[in-house]
Amino acid sequence: MTAEKPDDPVGGGETDKSKREFLKMAAAISGVLAVAGIASVMKSVVIPAVPATSGTPTSFPRVKVSSVSELSTGVAVIFNYPLNNEPNILVKLGQKAEGGVGPDGDIVAFSQICQHLGCIWGFVPEGKSPTVNPSFVAPAPVGYCPCHGSVYDLLEAGKVIGGPAPRPAPQVQLEADSSGDIYAVGMGPPTIFGHDTGSTDVADDLQGGTLVSST
Ligand code: FES
Repeated sequence: MTAEKPDDPVGGGETDKSKREFLKMAAAISGVLAVAGIASVMKSVVIPAVPATSGTPTSFPRVKVSSVSELSTGVAVIFNYPLNNEPNILVKLGQKAEGGVGPDGDIVAFSQICQHLGCIWGFVPEGKSPTVNPSFVAPAPVGYCPCHGSVYDLLEAGKVIGGPAPRPAPQVQLEADSSGDIYAVGMGPPTIFGHDTGSTDVADDLQGGTLVSST
């Protein structure tokens, strides 16, 4: 199955409102890609949203995403963060990674919204191929975008190693407590696609939608 390319939904001339609408669509596409099998295995975590409040949020929520004992190497977990319509991938890579947490330093998470034009990328284990492009063999555990083939190295903080993406995938800042619970506590830089795209001011990631609840 081939994922559809969005009709330049968030091009340079689009308004912030249209970008937010696109992010809602992107979250929906995430589920489609999981079914399409772009990633080896995926499961999802539902994190409740904070009721709408007045005022401007200034800090990232601290949200439990999973625990060390629940994770299997190469099985991606999808969760929304920091807004309730923005998908991220958490995965235990099986080898130490930049920014990784857990006993082996191999658990990482990234915004799943591609930095090129906002499609949703999927996880591909090292040595495997995405179903949308069997000729591509992942040289490392990577994120692969089905729209134009951007490739993010998940061992190296989401660095772009292929395709047109102009910036790395924003990494979710994780913490693992003494019991092995894993929390998302912050993001990036860069900003998540659709939030002042291209900026390093991650405070903008908190704007334009409903934050997930701290747990
Ligand atoms: S949207 Fe173009 S490579 Fe991801």
